[in-house]
Amino acid sequence: MSSSSRVIVALDFANQADVFKLVDQLDPTQCKLKVGKELFAIAGPGLVEQLVSRGFDVFLDLKYLDIPNTVAMACKAAANMGVWMVNVHALGGPNMMTAAKEAILSADHQPILTAVTILTSFDPAQLNAIGLSGSIQDNVVRLAKLAQSSGADGVVCSAQEATELRKHVSKDFCLVTPGIRPAGSKTDDQKRIMTPVEAVQAGSDYLVIGRPITQSSDPLASLLEINQSLS
Ligand code: C5P
Repeated sequence: MSSSSRVIVALDFANQADVFKLVDQLDPTQCKLKVGKELFAIAGPGLVEQLVSRGFDVFLDLKYLDIPNTVAMACKAAANMGVWMVNVHALGGPNMMTAAKEAILSADHQPILTAVTILTSFDPAQLNAIGLSGSIQDNVVRLAKLAQSSGADGVVCSAQEATELRKHVSKDFCLVTPGIRPAGSKTDDQKRIMTPVEAVQAGSDYLVIGRPITQSSDPLASLLEINQSLS
């Protein structure tokens, strides 16, 4: 049974044993799970399929960016693993995003397609260095609108961008936001944080949360507390 929770637990682990130490404590009704590049490189589709077969909604966070045909084939392969969400870079352009969407529609199972706009690690100097003019926010809004018109179902963005983005995209366009910290928890290396409640109030649909749950002495209790704060 999949989850109605907005929480996507980021499985930022370097080995499968640590993944299952955590996942064995979790129930698919309480959260979704995110597998990123490091874990996928280590554990591959086998791990993703195990998580899916346990009933978890899995966000395969591989941020594809390549020529349209290659991204389309990668999205179809991800869809056929049974994942719930897959993502691409909006900077891959409209043809690439449209090809990704068409490939997903032709797969046996259709994950949500999200796009990364401008990486939150970018500052104005980085943006300038790759030749993009305008503010980060202008670029985020422009790329989110492009993602929507190219067939993506949503974007991954910082919760700080959610309020502004909500003015420019349709209500059902989903916003997935990392950089979430429950009140009183450690910020780690995240600079601009919001609490789960603030992020949802700003317009986030799904919250990517890693260390406040994965490094907690009682991960299940931390997750349930977050779910409770959102109910
Ligand atoms: O541990 P923490 O909650 O900071 O983890 C956040 C997760 O979201 C990590 O997997 C990180 O890679 C991811 N992420 C992020 N900021 C982005 C995009 C993804 O923190 N802009």
